[in-house]
Amino acid sequence: MLALCLFLNLPALVLATYPSPTLATRREPCLLPDTYPEVSTTTLPDPWKFIDGKSVSTAADFVCRQIEISKILQQFELGDLPSAPDSVTSVWAETGNMMNITATVGSKSATWSVRIVRSASDNSTAPPPPSGSPAIIALGGSWIPIPSSIRQIIFNNDECASQAGGGSRGRGKFYELHGSSHSAGSLMAWTWCVGRIIDGLEQLGAATTGINPSRVGVTGCSRHGKGAFVVGAFEKRIALTIPQESGGGGAACWRMMNDEIRRRRPSSCCECGVAEPGCWSDPTRQATWFARKFDWRTIHSVPADHHLLAALVAPRGLYVVENNIDHLWPWSTAGCMKAGRMVYSGIGAQGNMGFSMIGGHSHCQFQTAGQADLFSFMDQFLLLSGQANVVDTSRVVNNDLPSFIAGWSRAPNITHDWEV
Ligand SMILES: *[C@@H]1O[C@H](CO)[C@@H](O)[C@H](O)[C@H]1NC(C)=O
Ligand SMILES: *[C@@H]1O[C@H](CO)[C@@H](O)[C@H](O)[C@H]1NC(C)=O
Ligand SMILES: *[C@@H]1O[C@H](CO)[C@@H](O)[C@H](O)[C@H]1NC(C)=O
Repeated sequence: MLALCLFLNLPALVLATYPSPTLATRREPCLLPDTYPEVSTTTLPDPWKFIDGKSVSTAADFVCRQIEISKILQQFELGDLPSAPDSVTSVWAETGNMMNITATVGSKSATWSVRIVRSASDNSTAPPPPSGSPAIIALGGSWIPIPSSIRQIIFNNDECASQAGGGSRGRGKFYELHGSSHSAGSLMAWTWCVGRIIDGLEQLGAATTGINPSRVGVTGCSRHGKGAFVVGAFEKRIALTIPQESGGGGAACWRMMNDEIRRRRPSSCCECGVAEPGCWSDPTRQATWFARKFDWRTIHSVPADHHLLAALVAPRGLYVVENNIDHLWPWSTAGCMKAGRMVYSGIGAQGNMGFSMIGGHSHCQFQTAGQADLFSFMDQFLLLSGQANVVDTSRVVNNDLPSFIAGWSRAPNITHDWEV
């Protein structure tokens, strides 16, 4: 069944902040099915072809294809992203060190706080620039250097949706509001809660918060990195997405992981890399990150994979930091993000995505050697003062990428003035 898919019906997209030239060029309505059938494909699904076989050839097509990808990922893997709540009330609390947010859905309300961190060199008595400073929402804290001109918003994502093993599924503020059996896994639940943080910043305004709500990035490392990636993909008000060492369930394509597992038995890591098949058959250990029904071992039936997570962030800024530790699936992240970069390239926004894998260090230890590249992305997308470096460096090369994308249609050559 076809449904007329208008932006306003879509929980994931916010009309007011979607790049306006895109809307202006949308002449045809974006007609998409409500649900999608299973497929059977061992290669990465073609970004340039709709499920009904039509090609993606214009900017408007690409935006429509993004909506399709978003629906597919919600249906098969991540669970549904609910629409905005009935109301959000935000309070700038504890003299600006906190923002308290109350969201109301029907008869239920939940309140949580985020901590605002300014660097020591950010003089809190000095007035902020009229439009406010940029900020980075850090899931569970940040493991990257952040310049003093950018605020940090520390989001305790576990409070929104727990991730303490399978038994914790359905716990947290998100589920208090939407019901403990809601289909969203914790990655999608966090996305919804981040949306409310941005609502709060918009509501209070730069004059109160000193933060510019249209220049907000997101980051997180490891499990929080998976979260940062999904948040950036589904919350279109995020200007820069920085998933760090997100590995399996993040920057790695599931189909590639399937091959990588067979090729080299990685060190066991149920927690971080969903590596051991045993972890997934044991429901008490199964992670809460994805929809309950998702089983990555049957990924071949899903008409999407994680190169399309990058496609959802496009054309906005995306800087993916990975590591070459076994259980982070470096071969899969390297190949998958190269495929993601091809999507950026096809829409004329190649420079907006960087991939960096310096490697040779312990988990979540950001390397100073990568700092200039990271900051160049913050300059372009948050501080609006500079140009992101071309970053496509990887310690690991996935030579099998060509066979994973062999069936793709020819990439379009979309030259569109994306506002990011
Ligand atoms: C904000 O929330 C914290 C708890 O997280 C609470 O201690 C504090 O009193 C609240 N502040 C305001 C102004 O509501
Ligand atoms: C902070 O700002 C005030 C007023 O703008 C100024 O007088 C003071 O020297 C600044 N302090 C630091 C540490 O920069
Ligand atoms: C893409 O289009 C631009 C301008 O329309 C053109 O200059 C460029 O050569 C094209 N690139 C490819 C790979 O076709």
